[in-house]
Parts: sequence; structure tokens; C-alpha cells
Amino acid sequence: MKTSTFLVIGGAGYIGSHLVKALIEQEHRVLVVDNLSAGKASAVLGGELLVHDFDDRAFLDSLFKTHQFDGVFHFASQIVVSESVKDPGKYYRANTAATLTLLEAMRDHDVGPLVFSSTAAVYGEPQYTPIDENHPTNAVNPYGRSKLMVEQMLQDFANAYQQQYVALRYFNAAGADPQARIGEQHNPETHLIPLALQAITGKCPPLQLFGQDYDTPDGTCIRDYIHVDDLASAHILAMNYLINGGDSGVFNIGNGQGYSVNEVIQTASKVAEKQVPVTYAPRRAGDPARLVADANRAKQVLGWQPKYADLTLIIQHAWAWEKSRH
Ligand SMILES: NC(=O)c1ccc[n+]([C@@H]2O[C@H](COP(=O)([O-])OP(=O)(O)OC[C@H]3O[C@@H](n4cnc5c(N)ncnc54)[C@H](O)[C@@H]3O)[C@@H](O)[C@H]2O)c1
Repeated sequence: MKTSTFLVIGGAGYIGSHLVKALIEQEHRVLVVDNLSAGKASAVLGGELLVHDFDDRAFLDSLFKTHQFDGVFHFASQIVVSESVKDPGKYYRANTAATLTLLEAMRDHDVGPLVFSSTAAVYGEPQYTPIDENHPTNAVNPYGRSKLMVEQMLQDFANAYQQQYVALRYFNAAGADPQARIGEQHNPETHLIPLALQAITGKCPPLQLFGQDYDTPDGTCIRDYIHVDDLASAHILAMNYLINGGDSGVFNIGNGQGYSVNEVIQTASKVAEKQVPVTYAPRRAGDPARLVADANRAKQVLGWQPKYADLTLIIQHAWAWEKSRH
């Protein structure tokens, strides 16, 4: 890709900051818009950071009048599934309605293309695994539905206004910058690998393991962990594809290999050379036994290939990041 100028909304967050790092390494110009509600200014390793809410039409109008972008990446979102069940209004407002404001502003100022952060949560309870993009979408919580609605808006806007987009349906983002400069720091933390590692350091209580009676070889849930730098490379390839005239659409981003919660606990214990403290709890409602991606479309169409597919490597990077924060 030639040197380009990109807008990264939510670029101070976990995944967005790894994309910013990758864009800077490729010598692109980057403007990050993030209200720092969950992100950190220190996670933005280059480019310019504008601390602002993106859900502000007057702000977007002025941004698009004064800057010429070759493309937009949109990560900003509320992301806690359990909170979305208790407070769905917050999720439809922040994830769906706010993105409509962005799409309309992009349409009116002729800005594009867009790469959007979607999620495997749009599929709901899997009817088969590995899950490909033709699997029915039947999100089972407001978080997933708020993202699915955005995907539907994207499709309608592409049809009506020729606004090009790719929605990347991530499975479980994990790992950290191999040099441990940036990594995962959600608050509250809800993701398994940081929770396991922080249970070791004492930053979090013992890890709660929900359910040991699933229909899986060791009885614990199986998930597909994808390194955050591999997610970043998928974004750049998706943008490149759109800039070169590729058709709008959705792509799964996952390793295609599942690991059980027990396997993650064992690997984390080995990497940290200390046992993850665990307490056992019953199943949580709405947790499917197995979520594994079929990401062949991204491999074939975008030319994407994960570089850090090995769970030990993913956890080693997460552990190095975790230790660097003490
Ligand atoms: N982490 C995962 O495993 C995962 C899995 C599937 C999908 N996703 C999606 O990926 C995206 C990024 O996830 P993440 O884990 O990096 O989350 P994150 O919370 O670390 O990052 C989101 C960023 O957006 C910013 N933000 C939120 N609302 C904003 C607003 N109104 N205006 C400006 N900035 C705002 C936050 O400050 C934060 O920096 C989200 O859209 C999420 O739904 C994440």
C-alpha cells in the first residue's frame, strides 16, 4: 500500500492501538479519535490523538472538512456482554446509533472505505463448527445484536450509496505487542487470558471457571484465540482490498483452532511458571460449548495468514505485557 492517511476511531483501545502501531510501522499517517472512556493515550504509539467522542455530527463534519482520509477503521464500542443484557439502551446508543451518525457523515462528505470491528457474537449459538460466514446470524444478546444491526446498516448503505465496507467478525482477541509496549487493559476485565494471568499476579481474584460439563473433551468451553497483531494485519489487508476495489462484505478472523478453558489455564500456568488459582462455578447462561472460526474466506480473498497462531506464544506475549505493568 502507498503511504496513506487513515482515521482510526477507538484507536487508543486494546485492538485499535495494535492497528495504529502496525500502520505507523508501514509509515502511514494516522489520526486517532478516542474519547479515552476505555482507552489510554499512552497506548497510541504514533500518529496524532484527538480526544473526542466520535458520536458528534458537528465534530465529524469539521473533521471531514479539514482532513482528507483514504479510509476509516472503526473500533469504538461498548463491549461487555453481561452489561449489554442489563442495559441494552447503552449498547444500541453507543454501538448502533453512534455508528449511524458516522456512516451518514462519511456518506455526506464522501469519505471511505470503512473497516468495522464486528464480532463472532453475531452468530449466537452455533449450529455447526467451524463457523463460516454463511452460518446464520442469530445473536443472543444486545451486544451481538447491536453489532449485527451495524452490519445490516453497512450493507444497506453500500447498496444505496456505494459506501464500501468490510466487517471483520473477530473471535477471541488475545496476546499483546511482542515487545510488550502495549497490550490488553480492559476495566472491568472480562477476557479469559488476562483474568488467568492477573489471578496469578494477585491483581484479580482466583479465576472463576464456569462449567465443566460441556460436551467437549475436557468438559470446559472451547474458544478460538486470535493474536491481536494478527487482527491488526487483517485490518490492513481488508483496507487494501477495499482501496483496490474489492467488494464489500464480512470476514471471520480467527485461528480456526479451538482451545478449552482448561488448556488455557494449563498453558498460562506453564508460561508464568505458577499455577493459575481457580474456583469452580456452574455454567453461565448463553455460553456456547464451542466457538471456532472458519477463516478461509479471509485467507483466500484478503491473503491473510495468522503469524502467531500458537497458544503458548499468545500467552507468552500477554504475560510479558502483564509483567511490564507491575
Ligand atoms: N476484545 C475482543 O476479544 C473483541 C472480540 C470481538 C469484537 N471486538 C470488537 O473490537 C472492538 C475493539 O475492542 P477492544 O477490545 O479493543 O475494546 P476497547 O474498549 O479496548 O477499545 C475501544 C476503544 O473505543 C473508545 N471509545 C468507546 N466509545 C467511544 C466514543 N463514543 N467515542 C470515541 N471513542 C470511544 C474507548 O475509549 C476505547 O479506546 C470493539 O468494537 C469490540 O466490539 C473485540
